Amino acid sequence: MLKKTYTYSSGKVDVYFDAAFGQLNKVVDKKNAILITDEHVFKAHHAKFKNWNVITLKPGEAYKIQPTADAIVEQLIAFQADRSSVLVGVGGGVITDLTGYVASIYMRGIQFGFVPTSLLAMVDASIGGKNGVDVGEYKNMVGIIRQPLFLFYDTSLLSTLPHHEWVNGCAEIIKHGAVLDAKLFKQLAQLEIQALKTDKKLLKAIVRRNVELKSAVVKRDEFEKGDRKLLNFGHTLGHALETQYELTHGQAVALGMVFAAWLSEQVIGFKQASSVEQVLVQYGLPTRAVFDVDRVFEILKMDKKRLSKQMRFVLMSKLGKGEIVEIPLTVLKKYLIAFNTLNKKQK
Ligand SMILES: NC(=O)c1ccc[n+]([C@@H]2O[C@H](COP(=O)([O-])OP(=O)(O)OC[C@H]3O[C@@H](n4cnc5c(N)ncnc54)[C@H](O)[C@@H]3O)[C@@H](O)[C@H]2O)c1
Ligand SMILES: [Zn+2]
Repeated sequence: MLKKTYTYSSGKVDVYFDAAFGQLNKVVDKKNAILITDEHVFKAHHAKFKNWNVITLKPGEAYKIQPTADAIVEQLIAFQADRSSVLVGVGGGVITDLTGYVASIYMRGIQFGFVPTSLLAMVDASIGGKNGVDVGEYKNMVGIIRQPLFLFYDTSLLSTLPHHEWVNGCAEIIKHGAVLDAKLFKQLAQLEIQALKTDKKLLKAIVRRNVELKSAVVKRDEFEKGDRKLLNFGHTLGHALETQYELTHGQAVALGMVFAAWLSEQVIGFKQASSVEQVLVQYGLPTRAVFDVDRVFEILKMDKKRLSKQMRFVLMSKLGKGEIVEIPLTVLKKYLIAFNTLNKKQK
């Protein structure tokens, strides 16, 4: 186990790399800890949960809602959890978001940590202290920014992760490369998903690089006044598509990234949109789709990145460098129509 401490304005986070689940009791006291997981993770890693207090939830984004938080609170009361209790989210991003959120409201806030078990949670969701739940079709509408005590990385947990969830995680890794790290982007362009799934050393190195990249951005801008917005690359259109169509998060974000890269060429003279598209294809992600612009635009307007009649849109000025550009909503809609028409022609 290698421990690294990341200091944010709101608190310190101990990050354990190269850890094995069996060492979790060295990081948190079994007596005080309550693990929160979902049925998939519990079934896949059943033996690991032995002798721990566990709350097992139904899996899926549909359960990342206030009623689930309320149900967890009831179970915490049944467990007689108090201010010395530590909640440990063992799961994907749904579980880590819920765990951090409930820990932040239970008894006005108790401590929590994460054992991310999906690639997406390892490289993205568990980092940065954003915790919350969805409200209707609006994702993460309610929540809080509060840092966990620790992050515990056991990449061997990924051995049971379904393939399409690997693809989802890769979309966020590609995002990090695109707007934060040209070297990572180029490395990804040389690889494919199978290499990550089979080469344990490579996987660990890529996960760690992503933790470092996201942590550094969050450290610079914990409360999302500037740079942290870069992490929304591909997500403005991505979220809108995700709510309207049967797409996974990674697929929706991939489509959003292709639009954002194309828009970067139109607006700020970016030259390598085709490289972005190429990498996404390599990782099994879709890059072109035709959608109902009016419907998608209605949702997109509700994005938290909107500033009255402008949208703060994340573009790429070059590979590895994102830039936030304010685009009037009316202009954005024209570009969406143009992009959609382009894709229709290519079909
Ligand atoms: N807080 C943040 O900053 C942040 C950032 C990005 C995403 N998120 C949130 O994360 C969520 C998405 O995360 P996710 O993709 O991990 O979703 P998820 O938690 O739903 O996990 C995906 C699926 O994989 C299963 N799973 C997870 N680990 C497994 C394992 N080791 N073996 C077998 N099955 C496993 C889960 O049960 C689930 O079915 C979204 O709700 C999103 O809003 C939050
Ligand atoms: Zn995402």
